[in-house]
Amino acid sequence: MSRIAYVNGRYQPHGSATVHIEDRGYQLADGVYEVVAIVGGKMVDEDPHLDRLDRSLSELRIKPPMARAALKLVMREVIRRNGVRDGLIYMQMTRGVAPRDHKFPKQAETAVVIYARRRPIAAQIAQARRGVKAITVPDIRWDRCDIKSIALLPNCLMKQRAAEAGAYEAWQVAADGTVTEGSSTNAWIVTKAGELVTRPLSDAILSGITRLTLLKIAREQGLKLVERPFTVAEALAAREAFVTSATSFVMPCIEIDGKPIGNGGVGLLCTALLDHYLAYIEREGEPVDAVPALRADAGTAQAAE
Ligand SMILES: Cc1ncc(COP(=O)(O)O)c(C=O)c1O
Repeated sequence: MSRIAYVNGRYQPHGSATVHIEDRGYQLADGVYEVVAIVGGKMVDEDPHLDRLDRSLSELRIKPPMARAALKLVMREVIRRNGVRDGLIYMQMTRGVAPRDHKFPKQAETAVVIYARRRPIAAQIAQARRGVKAITVPDIRWDRCDIKSIALLPNCLMKQRAAEAGAYEAWQVAADGTVTEGSSTNAWIVTKAGELVTRPLSDAILSGITRLTLLKIAREQGLKLVERPFTVAEALAAREAFVTSATSFVMPCIEIDGKPIGNGGVGLLCTALLDHYLAYIEREGEPVDAVPALRADAGTAQAAE
């Protein structure tokens, strides 16, 4: 099956799909994105991701290109055309095409790219059962990490450092010694006292949708939950550590900066949380082939061939 991408109102062959050279996303990283996981033909937390997309657009004063119901139709069409049962859908929206100028253009249409990619989850689950390594790096990003901006250069640099160190993720550390988040994940620890700890929401981290869902699961399970910053020293002394994201789910970190966490293996709580998360997806995921509820405002999708 050949891959198809949605680009500014048209479904195009993925390999030849292009955007304009003066797209402000391309030139200025003036845009936002979302990644939604697809597992067993279901989208995971579709509406919370779309809520965050709306917020990111609004924080940057980029006009939403279409109503949510229309966007949901396009997302499903992209997933259907690409035959994705396990994988992800990537959506990017930029301020559009205009002569290069740092100021916002007076007239520009929000540019949209949506594509879906297959990604078998079995290998990822196997990796989670084994656990991964992490390193710590300075957090060199800006003050609005709550916006899911496409400006990801610091994150790329840190992920590359992790890869070169044979690690899965780079935990970013603020000037005060506390862990903010991973380069593309939220960071968590389980203390020796059995408390599940993750940093509270602020401009310093992205409000991960997986983080929100896991907080809900942890509350339902009656776990001792504390949203507070924690230091690298606390992480190294923790019983368990892990990261979460739409594509990592719950990924146990069994080593940080070359030092084993807990007994150096995947912990009981990480395992239980991953199992609960997978059960949640199975139970609550939005079937891709279900038609989304259409509202009167759905007519604004540009869906020409
Ligand atoms: C910096 C950062 N933090 C956290 C996350 C996790 O967010 P989510 O769970 O919504 O994937 C991501 C995901 O891309 C990210 O880039």
